[in-house]
Amino acid sequence: MKFTWSYVPPLVLEAAIRHRVFDVLDAGPKTVKETAEATGASERGLRIIMNVLVGLEFLAKVDAGRYALTPESAAFLVSTKPGFQGGILTHASRQLIPKWLKLTEIVGTGKPEAAVNQQGAGVEFFQQFVTDIFPMSYPSAKVLAEHLQLKGDAKVLDLAAGSGVWGIALAQSSPGVTVTAVDWADVLPATQATVRKFGLTDRYTFVGGDLLEADFGHGHNVALLGHILHSEGEARSRKLLKKTFDALAPGATIAIGEFLVEDDRSGPLGSLFFAANMLVNTDEGDTFSFAEISAWLKQAGFVDARLLDAPGPAPLVLATKS
Ligand SMILES: C[S@@+](CC[C@H](N)C(=O)[O-])C[C@H]1O[C@@H](n2cnc3c(N)ncnc32)[C@H](O)[C@@H]1O
Repeated sequence: MKFTWSYVPPLVLEAAIRHRVFDVLDAGPKTVKETAEATGASERGLRIIMNVLVGLEFLAKVDAGRYALTPESAAFLVSTKPGFQGGILTHASRQLIPKWLKLTEIVGTGKPEAAVNQQGAGVEFFQQFVTDIFPMSYPSAKVLAEHLQLKGDAKVLDLAAGSGVWGIALAQSSPGVTVTAVDWADVLPATQATVRKFGLTDRYTFVGGDLLEADFGHGHNVALLGHILHSEGEARSRKLLKKTFDALAPGATIAIGEFLVEDDRSGPLGSLFFAANMLVNTDEGDTFSFAEISAWLKQAGFVDARLLDAPGPAPLVLATKS
């Protein structure tokens, strides 16, 4: 029974985000009627979902029937705040759940209906999504930049750049950093838009194409692979790591952001769920353990595979080209 209504929290959160409930309560506590006036949504709808959000501890009932944000919703669900994580939730009902409804058939065949690791479905899926997940990785990218302490002219290769979040944090950390960002050509406008927003366009080169076909150039000091191995799957990830190794200068660092699983795949639950998300959305995708990724890195030629703790759901795996 515990799981019967498990799909309710993300859908209630999505509805509240889309109706700007957290945004209007950020200005101060409100009654349902005041929230309805501020958002244009129905009083009945808001009353019911706002009570669910109280039960989930994303809202609190304060005096005189007013509802207030809790510290967690104030930090992560107000769209104007830098920590806003609602982007990933607003994809649930339109982009993810419709595909998950086919899970029984997908388990039967082992194949998704549409695979986002392929350019056609992938471009449509990622064009907006990459910008929405920028806040998920930006704090980790800042930690990586702090850890690497890049100085002078450093060349960074940002693979599957998406919003450009990883390369942007490194470019911000030192004026000599230049970035080569690789992604499908039709997703690169999203990368370019974010890079422009941060005023970094003159330090960027953009390369459009499939990761196993695009020209990575050579002599890079850092390679960034943020949330890409899970959709590529083992065979393509191994090829990608070898290709990345060849594009790096001696002494360079590779940094991989991933939702890791325990060696025996008994947890953490979020990474096991994400493996199922890869089953639903990709041809060969999965989540992997530190031991598995370390072995692939070693086979590609890297040494000293290690973990860097980072804020958020994904630690970083680092290794060195000796
Ligand atoms: C989950 S997003 C990650 C974006 C970014 N690195 C981050 O951590 O936020 C995956 C990105 O990889 C790109 N991508 C996926 N498969 C690709 C492929 N085979 N060739 C080129 N780009 C690919 C997608 O367009 C998307 O921008």
